[in-house]
Amino acid sequence: MASPFIRITSLQKHFDMGRVVVRALSSVELTVEPNSFTVVMGPSGSGKSTLLYLIGGLDRPTGGHIAVNGQSIETLDENQLAVYRRRTVGFIFQSFNLIPTMSALENVAFPMRFARIPRRKRLVKAAELLKRVGLEDRAYHKPTELSGGQQQRVAIARALINDPQLILADEPTGNLDTHSGYSIMQLLSELHRSGRTVFVVTHDTRMIHFATHKTFLLDGRVVSEAEYTAASTLITDAENTEKMNL
Ligand SMILES: Nc1ncnc2c1ncn2[C@@H]1O[C@H](COP(=O)(O)OP(=O)(O)OP(=O)(O)O)[C@@H](O)[C@H]1O
Ligand SMILES: [Mg+2]
Repeated sequence: MASPFIRITSLQKHFDMGRVVVRALSSVELTVEPNSFTVVMGPSGSGKSTLLYLIGGLDRPTGGHIAVNGQSIETLDENQLAVYRRRTVGFIFQSFNLIPTMSALENVAFPMRFARIPRRKRLVKAAELLKRVGLEDRAYHKPTELSGGQQQRVAIARALINDPQLILADEPTGNLDTHSGYSIMQLLSELHRSGRTVFVVTHDTRMIHFATHKTFLLDGRVVSEAEYTAASTLITDAENTEKMNL
């Protein structure tokens, strides 16, 4: 069998808040196969974003190991980590995180600014990516002149500008209506089929349909689907009881 693209062992992330320590992730073991589409499900506060930020090198673990493509992320210094983020990872966030003063085209080209490539070439590549996400006719629109679904498409094009092998997405459909959300899922699925490794954390159960692998988180731990389903039923029951008592 091929070696995993991501290998996570004994991963911990604790936030020391003075009087309390928040254990966002405890002893997480996880492998992600190359060219897989992994969906991580978990209730609010279960550690999904924390896990994504650690894999993407946006934050550092308290303990444990993360290897991506054979490279240990936790041993990299700040400069090496910046190179890792730029070359290997494309990020997609729930709130799009576009720069409001820039056009769609400039937003997409932005992460390429450190590459030694002339501006005109960068913009040509950005235009190709906008076309790929179906927005060639919106290149000169500012983010406020685009719908939520269109803004997320721009963010996906931006995530692709440096040809990353790994796409990390945090609730990419969380701020979108049902239809726009579905088309974003289809776009992520296309990226997976074109050879990338896609790793998505979400509440959106429709995403499971596109997944090759599923992982479930509860209170910062990876649990089985059965344990997750049982806990979800308890959570829903508790919410219903609360509503009836109001
Ligand atoms: N910077 C931080 N400082 C302190 N605690 C934090 C920090 N970031 C996250 N946490 C805590 O860690 C836990 C996991 O948070 P995380 O954001 O990973 O959850 P999540 O599964 O992404 O939730 P949601 O679905 O609401 O986005 C939570 O209890 C949260 O309060
Ligand atoms: Mg989150």
